[in-house]
Amino acid sequence: MSFSEYSNSIVFYLNGKRIVVRSLDLDMTLLQYLRSIGLTGTKLGCGEGGCGACTVMVSRYDTHLDKIIHTSANACLCPLYSIDGKHVITVEGLGTAKKPHPVQERIALLHGSQCGFCTPGFVMSLYTLLRNNPNPTELEIEECFDGNLCRCTGYRPILDAAKTFADQAWKQGSVNADGSVRAPDKNDGGCGIEDCCRLQKKGKLFSLPATTLPHTGTSFSTDISGATICCGKNANSVCCKSTAKTMPDSDNLAEIEKARIISKFQMYDPTQELIFPPFLIRYANHKTAENEPQMRPLKIESTNPQSWCQRFFRPLTLDELLVLLKEYPSAKLVAGNSRVCLDIKLEHLRVPVHIYINDIPELRQISEHQDHVSFGASVTIAQFEHKLKELINKYGLQRAQSLSALHSSLSHFAGNQIRNVSTIAGNIAIASPISDLSPVFMAAGAYVTLVAAENGSKRQVPMCEFFLGYRKTAMRTGEVILNICVPFNQKKEIVRSFKQAKRKSQDIAIVNCGLRVRVDEDTGDVVDAAFAFGGMAQTTVLAKNTIASAIGGKWGDRSLLDRIIGTCQNELRLGFAIRGGMAEYRSALMLSFLFKFWAISCNELQINCAEAAFAAEVQDESRRMLTKGKQEYASITDRAIVGKGVTHRSALQQATGEARYVNDTPLIQGELFIGLVMSQRAHARIISIDSIEALRFPGVHRVLTACDVPGSNTWTFSCDEEVLPTEEVHYMGQPIALVLADSQKVAQEAARMVRVEYEDLPAIFTMREAIAQNSFFDEVREVSNGDVDAAFAQADFVFKGESYCGQQEHFYLETMSSIAVPKGESGELDLYTTTQGPTGVQMECAKVLGVPASRIVCHVKRVGGSFGGKESRATLIAAFSALGAYHTNKPVRIVLERNEDMQTSGQRHPYLGQWEVGVTRDGKLLGLRMRVFSNGGFSHDASVIVMEHTLTSADNCYMIPNTSYIGRICRTNTQSSTAFRGFGSCQGMFLLESMLCEVADLLELPVEQIREINMYKTGDITPYAQCLTEWNVPLMWEQIKQKGEFAKRRREIDEFNSRTRYRKRGLSLLPTKFGITFGVNFMHQAMALVHVYMDGSVLVTHGGVEMGQGLHTKMAMIAAETLELPLESIFISETATNTAANTSPTAASISSDLNGYAVHNACKELADRLQPYRERMKGEPFSKIAKAAYLDRCSLTASSHYNKPTLSYSWKTNKGLLHLYYTQGVALAEVELDTLTGAHTTRRVDIIMDVGKSLNKAIDIGQIEGAFTQGQGWTTTEEYLYSPQNGQLVTQGPSNYKIPSALDIARDFRVSLLEGVPNSTLKTIFSSKGIGEPPLFLGASVFFALRDAVLAARKHSVSGALHLESPATPEVLRLACKDDFVDMARIPDEQKKGSTPFAVRI
Ligand SMILES: Cc1cc2nc3c(=O)[nH]c(=O)nc-3n(C[C@H](O)[C@H](O)[C@H](O)COP(=O)(O)OP(=O)(O)OC[C@H]3O[C@@H](n4cnc5c(N)ncnc54)[C@H](O)[C@@H]3O)c2cc1C
Ligand code: FES
Ligand code: FES
Repeated sequence: MSFSEYSNSIVFYLNGKRIVVRSLDLDMTLLQYLRSIGLTGTKLGCGEGGCGACTVMVSRYDTHLDKIIHTSANACLCPLYSIDGKHVITVEGLGTAKKPHPVQERIALLHGSQCGFCTPGFVMSLYTLLRNNPNPTELEIEECFDGNLCRCTGYRPILDAAKTFADQAWKQGSVNADGSVRAPDKNDGGCGIEDCCRLQKKGKLFSLPATTLPHTGTSFSTDISGATICCGKNANSVCCKSTAKTMPDSDNLAEIEKARIISKFQMYDPTQELIFPPFLIRYANHKTAENEPQMRPLKIESTNPQSWCQRFFRPLTLDELLVLLKEYPSAKLVAGNSRVCLDIKLEHLRVPVHIYINDIPELRQISEHQDHVSFGASVTIAQFEHKLKELINKYGLQRAQSLSALHSSLSHFAGNQIRNVSTIAGNIAIASPISDLSPVFMAAGAYVTLVAAENGSKRQVPMCEFFLGYRKTAMRTGEVILNICVPFNQKKEIVRSFKQAKRKSQDIAIVNCGLRVRVDEDTGDVVDAAFAFGGMAQTTVLAKNTIASAIGGKWGDRSLLDRIIGTCQNELRLGFAIRGGMAEYRSALMLSFLFKFWAISCNELQINCAEAAFAAEVQDESRRMLTKGKQEYASITDRAIVGKGVTHRSALQQATGEARYVNDTPLIQGELFIGLVMSQRAHARIISIDSIEALRFPGVHRVLTACDVPGSNTWTFSCDEEVLPTEEVHYMGQPIALVLADSQKVAQEAARMVRVEYEDLPAIFTMREAIAQNSFFDEVREVSNGDVDAAFAQADFVFKGESYCGQQEHFYLETMSSIAVPKGESGELDLYTTTQGPTGVQMECAKVLGVPASRIVCHVKRVGGSFGGKESRATLIAAFSALGAYHTNKPVRIVLERNEDMQTSGQRHPYLGQWEVGVTRDGKLLGLRMRVFSNGGFSHDASVIVMEHTLTSADNCYMIPNTSYIGRICRTNTQSSTAFRGFGSCQGMFLLESMLCEVADLLELPVEQIREINMYKTGDITPYAQCLTEWNVPLMWEQIKQKGEFAKRRREIDEFNSRTRYRKRGLSLLPTKFGITFGVNFMHQAMALVHVYMDGSVLVTHGGVEMGQGLHTKMAMIAAETLELPLESIFISETATNTAANTSPTAASISSDLNGYAVHNACKELADRLQPYRERMKGEPFSKIAKAAYLDRCSLTASSHYNKPTLSYSWKTNKGLLHLYYTQGVALAEVELDTLTGAHTTRRVDIIMDVGKSLNKAIDIGQIEGAFTQGQGWTTTEEYLYSPQNGQLVTQGPSNYKIPSALDIARDFRVSLLEGVPNSTLKTIFSSKGIGEPPLFLGASVFFALRDAVLAARKHSVSGALHLESPATPEVLRLACKDDFVDMARIPDEQKKGSTPFAVRI
């Protein structure tokens, strides 16, 4: 076909409707397209394939397989042109809040949606799974979410909801480590008979008569999923479990409430799904009718000079591709686009011609030959994985050793959405040093077939010669990869792959490898070997010297192992300052992988050597263990509504994509977008800002700098930050200027054209540098009591040490956004902003614009996660949009990219504690002196208050009679640290607990013993003079020891550890108390405004912001309870400064307390007013009562201001009341650690929380699970790193910064609420307690359990106290498990001297 016959339009189906797009924008992604036509349910969370918020289902007809294939895909990575001939289903295509799809309904109603920003992505991943397999297993369900992140829920409720679709009630333990299933037995939850109905359920609902639960008297329909109740169909039609026993645990209201919800679920009927349009089958087969569009090659010329490419082709055959390549030999080929899109986005790749090769059937072919299998270049990773499994089964494990190693390397390869699109050729063509496939291909002796466009000739290049350097291959210009051939294996040949990343799923390797050895059948001598490593050089490398050292040696002979290890260490040495850092860890991993391979291969080859005995324990930890959870609460509320486990009120809107977030607001005519000009220096004087080039750029309207700020250019409560800098920049990434343009893309492009000239100034990044250079903010905070020196004099020991905990990124899924809409008169401006503090935004924006606050209304409908990050920092973003609107009189939108958000929006303060502690021989704490440092960044923000919380939490739950805490805030050239859930308290507790662990090591006592003997008792006084009343930690401590079988498990773990060498388990029992207070009196106020309309509907407004924590749900429950109305009558629309004025930010876990009373009081007033009408009109509906009151001229509006809790604490005198009360809790965590890699699994977590009389138990449990998981991430996987060279944040975006994924949560996650305590002194609304932040610190129990496991590992090598800093990443853990490999990998200090590490914690 000649180029002139190429088409320039594409045809696809979207949610069942045919769409034709002509004059295609080559830069447009599917996500941008969907959102531009109003389908905003699909969210933008990162734009780099790392979060799954943009997941859609893409279905296509595979002509080769004659089959419809449904795949989940990241719409943010899909170019729109790649959708030609496909059917896209988005969250809107499934259902609506009124008529949800079962997937949406179950995730929503079973509490799987908090802020909801991630929810459409989870819905679509599960939906895709069900479209492919309507009866999935629980295992398949868990795995379908490996490309989706949620920051709020802790995943457990999402998994629980999704598992209601499982075809068998698989129970924990019924799945073996390799994914196979054991025959059912009694432990599986079945009755033991083979066809027990609990194990046979096929996703259908069972109908049982309504039942009254024996103990509670609660009546509910037992029409439930069967996951917990046996259907009664087996064993002579008698239920194999008696009805009484099979009821959800009748003392456990959580299960009863869950069963009630499940009983109402619609049945899932796969036949009701949107069909794949028959037209698309004809289209793919080139058999469309004459009047229908034909599938043709595409050729599109860009009309946009700024496009990343000017000319685009999509050939449909290999011949067409070769013709094109001949014409354009340097054209950029694009297959799955998962790498190219990042080059375009992050590295601003520009090419004249690009060719999309993913619709060429020849490149997707897989063929089996005598001695090898050939995989077409465009075979996706998902297809590859599927085919490999088939081939392994067909050819058997011996011949398919390499295929099996490739298969296992894929079990940790990205997430589903990426595996569904990215191709094997794309993976090797980018020649990334950490490609997962390259080392295994190399070790397998695979080769690449290349075709030259010039003459169609083919050549084969062995994989070991394919990679020439960093992102450089042996491919010549005009060549294309046709296929990759993998040879079968011979007898006595073993191949394995290993990978270690920062996180289990959706993460690229730190080091990976493919290792192969073949021994002589008779002698056992090595006849062939290949050891290929990724992450150890500029590209994947074959350790040739190591291989040579192995050949001829006797496999299994210890001296050969030593030789291999020694040679490899010498051959692949990394310099301390290596790009990517972690030189010692990477070396240790390489050696550890070799050792693992040695042990496993010796075992498989049945070689009798000592290491073979370790084969089982050095196997890679399987990700295929199922998770399970249990939530418990026993008491039944005596109230009609408050206290029930009501589902989040917008959950269905969130799950169906109807819920609106700021950036879902439709474009307003004339709207402009902001692009940020960000500082390229950490500390510098601004010499000049040149915007001329940017202003010439088509579509640019204005460039605003500090001189364009009409009002005050300073902001924050300390007034120590400039909105836009006038003279100096203080951190890398600081916004310097704003470009206003017609589109976000133009604004961003033009922002890069603004030239800023700097004069560098000295910069400080770390706390240690700041301490050395005396770089502090002025404020010093101090809490002291008793006489520390006297205590030290009495102590048996005085120990000294340091504790450190690192930063944490909020990683709310919705990045900061704001839209400013000028009203056109009197300076009025509406601001739609992602903030926790609408009043703060209103006041600061008014100040910046120089207008009265009365002209500005800040609106917040909901926020897609916040966690403290949108408390103060959101104000700046809002101010930018306000400034833009002020100057242009047009609506102005700003939506931060994920990397912009991470560089500018602040994060949790890192802390360093330098302590001296006096203790008795048996562990009694007598006195403590701690110098506490935080890294505040370049400005104050909330650092002083955060430090105050730290110092008043650093006692955690222990009586230390003599204490002296002094807190200083380091001033550094990093972004300003800010509020984060836990607000300094969790750092304070961490510093102390970390110290206690070292003290326990030094005294050789169990740390739990030290915790126990020092634990506060009721009536004890804290260092800040607060008397502990209603002190429930000791009770919960005992309860969890009982429930969690602490003593028994401790013994079991000790026994396990004594049997194993390279796999250790750890246990940790950790208490917490979290003082509820804003710390200042004036913030303890709230207001509510309630309107009853004459139709009986009620609109409630209060000052709190809904950010996923269920605040509006709780407030609506309080309103309904007080007004004695059904919950459905109450509506909360938004939070706005014109209805709730002068409000405090939604923070400090106190918003339910404050707003709850305000709502209650306003509703009470209305209820009192309406009482006479109610009495007079008994039995009449409320609508009639409201109407009657209206006609009677009774006011149906009430407002209330609440300001009760009063603090009296004085920092000067250290006297008075500081915390209004404490939310308390205890956690018990158990982990298993692979000491050779640092990878770990959280095996079980038990939590008991005292939440008072909960307003909504389901929501509170959601907060506990979510906060715990966030705390677990803070202390394990989430590492924030900066370049010490220039202060650049290294860990930007989800590809570098790792929040926990669904696979990281506790395998067994049990949460219960404390019952049966009086709470008589609580003065809060309905005696509830704040819950948002308090459980976060308990997540550190995973850290301390890991520490316990590391201690067990170190018993083999070293003794003495262990100093372990947080986060305990795999790197930290591996290096702490000191052994020979770590010693070998260690870079001597003299070699480190003079070189700057790649990245540092600050
Ligand atoms: C979120 C995320 C997670 C990831 N996780 C992992 C991981 O865990 N492990 C891992 O190894 N990788 C990972 N990657 C990288 C990813 O696997 C690669 O980007 C992918 O395999 C590339 O395939 P593609 O088809 O998308 O390539 P594209 O982006 O389309 O192309 C990449 C390069 O390959 C070239 N190319 C493609 N096909 C051919 C061909 N037939 N002939 C010649 N050149 C060709 C292109 O010209 C381009 O230069 C991840 C990427 C993302 C975005
Ligand atoms: S927005 Fe697409 S994966 Fe995050
Ligand atoms: S509910 Fe998942 S990110 Fe908020």
